[in-house]
Parts: sequence; C-alpha cells; structure tokens
Amino acid sequence: MTLDATATTTGGRTQAGPPRTRRYLMCRPTYFAVEYAINPWMDPAAPIDTALAVRQWETLRRTYLDLGHTVEEIEPLPGLPDMVFAANGATVHDGRALAVQFRDPERADEAPAYAAWLDRAGFEVHEAKHVNEGEGDALPANGLLLAGTGFRASHAAHAHLQEVFGRPVITLQLVDPRFYHLDTALCVLDDTTVAYLPEAFSAGSRAVLRRLFPDAVLASLADAEVLGLNAVSDGRHVILPVQATGLSAALRERGYDTIGIDLSELRKAGGGPKCCTLVLREREATK
Ligand code: ARG
Repeated sequence: MTLDATATTTGGRTQAGPPRTRRYLMCRPTYFAVEYAINPWMDPAAPIDTALAVRQWETLRRTYLDLGHTVEEIEPLPGLPDMVFAANGATVHDGRALAVQFRDPERADEAPAYAAWLDRAGFEVHEAKHVNEGEGDALPANGLLLAGTGFRASHAAHAHLQEVFGRPVITLQLVDPRFYHLDTALCVLDDTTVAYLPEAFSAGSRAVLRRLFPDAVLASLADAEVLGLNAVSDGRHVILPVQATGLSAALRERGYDTIGIDLSELRKAGGGPKCCTLVLREREATK
C-alpha cells in the first residue's frame, strides 16, 4: 500500500506537507432549493437565493482550478435540488466507485445519474446494496476508510465498502443530528492527519479516533456549527467555510494554507465545500 509521504513532524506535531493535485466532480446548483427537510439545517420556509448559490459555488470551483486541480462537471437535473452535493454521488477510490442508495426518497434519482457519469468516465462501478451516501460517510485516510453511521450510511454498507475497496473500514458512530454525515464532523487533512469535532461521535468512536489520530486537530462546536469541518484539503491547501475562523487559525498553526469560501446559501441545505466535491481517485500505480 502506498501512503502519501506528505506530513512531517515538527515539535511532536504533524505539519502540513506538499499539495497533491486532485480530480474533482462537481454539480452546478442550477436547480438548488430547500423543498424538503431531511436534516436539521433545512427549513423549506426559509428564502433561498439560487443565483447567489450558483455564484458561491462558482467561487469554489474557480478556487480549485486556480490551485491546479481538475474539475469535472455532471449535468444538474431539474427536480433534484440537492444534486449539487456531489460528495453524495459515490465513493470513488483506486479507480473503483461504489454507487449510492439514498436514505430519503427525495434524493433517490440522483444515484443513477452519478453512477452513469462514473461509468462513462471509465470507473468500475459497483452497485449499492445498502443505504450509503457516498463520500459523505466514507473518507479514506492512512490506508483505511473512515466510515460514518448513525444517520445515513448503514453498518451493512460499511461491510460492503470494505469488500469493494479491500481497505479496512473503521466504523464511526455519529450522535448529533446536525452532523449527520461524517464529512460534517471530520475532515481528512492529509493521509495521517484529521480534524474533527469530538462531541459529534459516541464515546467509543472518540476513543478510536484518539487511538488512530493522536495528533488530530480538535475543532470547536462554534466551527462545526458553520460546517467548518466540511472542508477539502489537498494536503496543503484547506478550503473551508470562511465563517470557521477558529479552525482556520488552528490549521494555519500546523502549516496548512487555509482558503475561506462563503457558501452560506448551500449551508441552508446542510452542505459546505466538501459536500459539493466528489474526489475522483484513480487506480493507484502500486499497492
Ligand atoms: N440536504 C442534503 C442532505 O441532507 C445535504 C447533503 C450534504 N452532503 C454531505 N456530503 N454532507 O442529504
């Protein structure tokens, strides 16, 4: 197995290493709206400015391009207001993709659209057998797959993830409905470093995280409440909600370059930068 030889240790704490160029899949929020409530952030009565959502999303996309990443786009479909959250489209790793099965019927039709896109792009697509919402609940780190459960992905889906990707799956129990996907409670900064909100996890899962990542950045509730942990890192640059000022300062102290983005409209649906971004991981050259 190849690990990113990125992070270095200074004074006993892991410091940021060089960036890695990534390939991302995004979906323009053309049809974005909050028409139903499937998480506590969503209030269908609250006004939504779709044009502003598009401009904010465009800034995120532009930021990736300026950093040298590749951004692919999937065509948004009318009637699927949450399709902008591409991280929920699949889990993609080592050239393979595990398709998704949404918990809520409102999002069901997004699943085949993402599976078809990935198939056309040449990924080996595996059919979903259990409720799982892609990278929202499955984040690779340190040769492992960190997998969230409690609200969306099921335990059975975790076992399936392990079969498809041949990576040990670490089940993490989420306990706060505001942090309903793993990527709202934990961010992988590089292969050996994560940031997370301890109180979003059960006591046992907190102990697992301490054991796996003794050097993790611990986020505050104030940062998590602006979806600060819904961040995208290339190992050096961390793109996070601009409102997450405490987390940004903590990351800078570790040598990461933080870039704050305002996705206030998309947050009304419970999403931030990471939710809008599916990482397309190609087959690795060596294992
Ligand atoms: N409204 C969407 C839902 O509840 C937001 C999804 C956010 N995606 C994520 N990866 N956390 O399903």
